[in-house]
Amino acid sequence: MTLSDTQRQNETIGVILGRRSIRVFEARKVEPEKVETILECAFAAPSAMNAQPCHIVAIDDKDLLTKIGAANERTRMAGDAPLAFAVCVDVANYEKVHRLTDGTWMEDGACVMENILLAARALGLEGVWLQIANRKGREEVVTPMLHLPAGVRILAMALVGYGAESKAPHSGVDTARLHRNIWQPGR
Ligand SMILES: Cc1cc2nc3c(=O)[nH]c(=O)nc-3n(C[C@H](O)[C@H](O)[C@H](O)COP(=O)(O)O)c2cc1C
Repeated sequence: MTLSDTQRQNETIGVILGRRSIRVFEARKVEPEKVETILECAFAAPSAMNAQPCHIVAIDDKDLLTKIGAANERTRMAGDAPLAFAVCVDVANYEKVHRLTDGTWMEDGACVMENILLAARALGLEGVWLQIANRKGREEVVTPMLHLPAGVRILAMALVGYGAESKAPHSGVDTARLHRNIWQPGR
């Protein structure tokens, strides 16, 4: 099944399909008004029980990004990005105040991350998800660098900038993973 021409021309659909993980960025800075629009989209993300638990540390300090990049082989690309958004949650407070102990803070953070990456793409920027939580050598190193208070955890960082590489947009449906009405094995 393919998209109709009308659907393919839809700007929002184009942004969703066109978003790819871009890990190499131009040195040029992202305009402040674009940063603000991305932040507005980030804070518009849905959250369980509308708890809105996510805090964002917006990082455009090149020295700090370089330090984060130097922390670990896996965080290296942060050093090349002009901009990053660290998506954080006060997990202890989330569990105490909202009695949500089922780990949905991660889903809340994931919604924020995707909004950031899609907003960036819509504004002519590119980005990539850099996982921090539960990754050895990342969370314990990056947390103090951002001066996060006790109990606040970083889910991930969205690295954003003008892309210096390009990738083909996504297209099509993976029929091996699509099941209609009931799970049909071996399809
Ligand atoms: C939960 C999650 C964690 C990810 N962690 C990383 C990461 O730490 N480093 C990285 O380079 N890419 C990371 N990615 C990006 C994926 O590698 C990427 O989305 C995947 O390869 C598909 O490519 P695409 O984004 O271009 O469609 C992560 C993506 C998700 C959703």
